[in-house]
Amino acid sequence: MCGIIGYVGSQDATRVILDGLKRVEYRGYDSAGIAIEAGGKLAVAKRSGKLTSLVTELAAHPLPASGHGIGHTRWATHGGPTDNNAHPHVSADGRVALVHNGIIENFAELRAELEARGITFISQTDTEAAAQLLALELAACDDLTQAMRLVCARLKGAFTLVALDAHDSERVVAARRDSPLVVGLGEGENFVASDVASFISYTREALELGQDQVVTITRSSVTVTDFAGNPVPTRRFHVDWSPAAAEKAGFDWFMRKEIFEQPRAVADTLLGRTTDDGRLVLDEVRIDAAELRLANKIVVVACGTAYYAGLVAKYAIEHWTRVPVEVELASEFRYRDPIVDSRTLCITISQSGETMDTLQAIRYARAQGARVIAICNTVGATIPRESDAVLYTRAGPEIGVASTKGFLTQVSATYLLGLYLAQVRGTMFADEISRWLGELGAIPDKIQQVLDQAERVYALADSLKTTQDFIFLGRHVGSAVALEGALKLKEIAYLHAEGFAAGELKHGPIAIIDETTPVFVVVPPTGAGQLHEKMVSNIQEVRARGASVVVLAERGDTSVLPYAEHVLELPITPVLLQPLTATVPLQLFACELATLLGNDVDQPRNLAKSVTVE
Ligand code: AGP
Repeated sequence: MCGIIGYVGSQDATRVILDGLKRVEYRGYDSAGIAIEAGGKLAVAKRSGKLTSLVTELAAHPLPASGHGIGHTRWATHGGPTDNNAHPHVSADGRVALVHNGIIENFAELRAELEARGITFISQTDTEAAAQLLALELAACDDLTQAMRLVCARLKGAFTLVALDAHDSERVVAARRDSPLVVGLGEGENFVASDVASFISYTREALELGQDQVVTITRSSVTVTDFAGNPVPTRRFHVDWSPAAAEKAGFDWFMRKEIFEQPRAVADTLLGRTTDDGRLVLDEVRIDAAELRLANKIVVVACGTAYYAGLVAKYAIEHWTRVPVEVELASEFRYRDPIVDSRTLCITISQSGETMDTLQAIRYARAQGARVIAICNTVGATIPRESDAVLYTRAGPEIGVASTKGFLTQVSATYLLGLYLAQVRGTMFADEISRWLGELGAIPDKIQQVLDQAERVYALADSLKTTQDFIFLGRHVGSAVALEGALKLKEIAYLHAEGFAAGELKHGPIAIIDETTPVFVVVPPTGAGQLHEKMVSNIQEVRARGASVVVLAERGDTSVLPYAEHVLELPITPVLLQPLTATVPLQLFACELATLLGNDVDQPRNLAKSVTVE
């Protein structure tokens, strides 16, 4: 997500901060900015676009010399990627500059409160509410650290904040809750940053911060407290990564890093979507409830991994809303004279928001009168711009060509949308919807439990590194997981892999199975009754043909053990949500196998991250 840096020292803060921002460019961003304090005043430069735009601006209008400043690269979430929405945000009284990473869930409420007190907002961001609030608290207590604590106590959501006070030439104050922040310890200078990459060329000594902590840095001191002001212990560490490794947080590939980011990415996608009384609110879905109630058909259009997210969505949305859902490959959609009219709701899914096949499909759907809701990860991209409404997935930039956190957050967003449609159309009771939201809320921890087994998956990849053909089987939503598992392996390991709905096997594909073919089976949870039983029979069918079987099964499911060479445990999850956990071992497996085969995992041959041609 966003890159953040704060600096206090004797070097030129603008140069040090720009340098730090360059080192976190890999995170992806759509605007950048710097604020420094000089002579009791703040000076700010910010620009949409790449850092070069900011550098050009600084060359034309240099900031005064200063050893005290903050900087930011922004990946837009609330408000488009404009100059005005770029960080730092300065309070209306001109005293505070603030940068932020994360999502402030209660920003609308705070903004309304501040506007009622006569404060005028100039951006569409959630961050500005925190900047204005910080200025009010600071005006009252005249202590940036104390003001930061008071603000943090009022914020809901996930955030890293870094602030500068025009009246204080000594301090930079930062705070974190559920978003990254580390301190860089220099000689006569100190840093705060979202990422060690930002300060690695100045110091390799660092402090790790815990959750809900506030840190104040000066040239010669670092003070850390909790939000109540109590001192807290910190852990000092030495960074021995190279600058290139630091960009990937120590991982060998962006893809692997992105797989491990999934608990946070899914949590961010779910954040702030409910009111205090448990009602689902999708503010971005600005299609009239009456129109949503009138829809008699839903068509999902997408490509590749996003299409597989759509296959999962079909099961969930039909189950919850009882509206028929068709899932279409965007590249086929408009060439087959599809039945689409003003009562069709089109859901389009795209990580990049720029895939040409998908874009043409939604243009076609809108021309037939359909309303289009985009599920997208990239704020301001063409597909959301050309849609009637958009639900952003908030995965943060996905750099690896093989989509991982993109998929999990797309699936999460389709669940939110399905539940929202059920709420609007009255097909579920409020308590059922909140029960599902509770199940979804537990998913980030469950993904982490799967990630904790990564070494077992890597050992499996090592044992299969000379294998040429792989089969993946699933039932129900698991059939989409099977397709996604096979796609990951094709994309980056360049191996033959096929995914099937397990019941289809006996209608043909079983002929290709022999003792050289490992078969990965996504076993439905035991609570899924018949689905589970049928899958156990399918496992026996492939075993009878000599295949070695890798099962992904719910913890405690002993029924599959007699037939499996390898077992990867999944946390207990309702079958509809199982893709959010079951996909993860398959991503890890593909990433590891491709690494063992010596392939370029992040930029596999013949593939582009965003396919902007038809
Ligand atoms: C996934 O690993 C692929 N690289 C690819 O299938 C991708 O999902 C597809 O091209 C759609 O991209 P989009 O989500 O950016 O539209």
